[in-house]
Amino acid sequence: MVINDLLKLGLEKLSKREFSNPQLEVRLLLAKLMNVEKTYIYAFGDKDVSEDISNEFLSLIEKRSNGYPLQYILKHTEFMGLDFHVEEGVLVPRGDTEILVEYVLNYVKTRYGEEKVKVLDLGIGSGAISLSIAYYAPNSNIYGVDIGDTPIKVSNINKERLGLDNVEFIKGDLFEPLEGKSFDKSFHIIASNPPYIPKDVILGLQTEVKDFEPSLALDGGEDGLDFYRRITSRAKDFLVDKGLLIYEIGYDQGLDVKNIMLDNGFKDIEILKDLQGLDRVVLGFS
Ligand SMILES: C[S@@+](CC[C@H](N)C(=O)[O-])C[C@H]1O[C@@H](n2cnc3c(N)ncnc32)[C@H](O)[C@@H]1O
Repeated sequence: MVINDLLKLGLEKLSKREFSNPQLEVRLLLAKLMNVEKTYIYAFGDKDVSEDISNEFLSLIEKRSNGYPLQYILKHTEFMGLDFHVEEGVLVPRGDTEILVEYVLNYVKTRYGEEKVKVLDLGIGSGAISLSIAYYAPNSNIYGVDIGDTPIKVSNINKERLGLDNVEFIKGDLFEPLEGKSFDKSFHIIASNPPYIPKDVILGLQTEVKDFEPSLALDGGEDGLDFYRRITSRAKDFLVDKGLLIYEIGYDQGLDVKNIMLDNGFKDIEILKDLQGLDRVVLGFS
């Protein structure tokens, strides 16, 4: 079969679902399998494709049409202008999380200039937050903790790919691997995009998320706020005086998370909105 025929078949299948850009998706998938640039697919639509690749393409289209995330098939995605390896077992980094990273980068620059800054990222996934801070703020030293094996493995792959040596990833349950070491009151910033979906809301999410993304990355307990409570109640033990605690939150969690921070003595609390005008980040100072 030639490229254009395969694209047409793929498009027919994917157009039945509400994917935002099936035209692009079919081309990206075929380019990946043929190991060529996307531009090749546009330029050489009449080129023959081997039977093996054609079959593999059609089976990936089938998988995709069942909601399997495109990024897991392509094995990478972009975050903060950097290329991240992703695979099943880590959350696909979302554009909304860039709001947290941009705040941190701006804060590091204005508050600390070129001084050394120590940052803790709790729940690293693909390493998106840790590594983009490390990349754009070379004066930072980042420690990233995750409870899952795959996030630690994938984050180390991304660390290697980006050639960064100012990041260390540690496996464990939130602050637990840092206890009793020399980390007390040592971080200038604690950042986290923790699991924050209430248990019973997970079932109602789109197939891509609920069936294929790791539940360990989503499940925030009965009301979705478990991790904010756990992290906030210990954060002061690990933050320097007037250190920054910054969270990504669900669109309806702004006030709850603000109150958790107030109850734990945090000050100057701010809620930042995303591009849709929804609450997305809560931050405060110890
Ligand atoms: C919502 S994901 C965020 C991933 C990444 N920071 C991002 O923004 O793309 C939450 C992460 O928290 C991790 N996690 C869940 N429970 C944890 C725990 N008790 N301690 C440390 N990490 C945990 C999950 O494995 C997952 O990687």
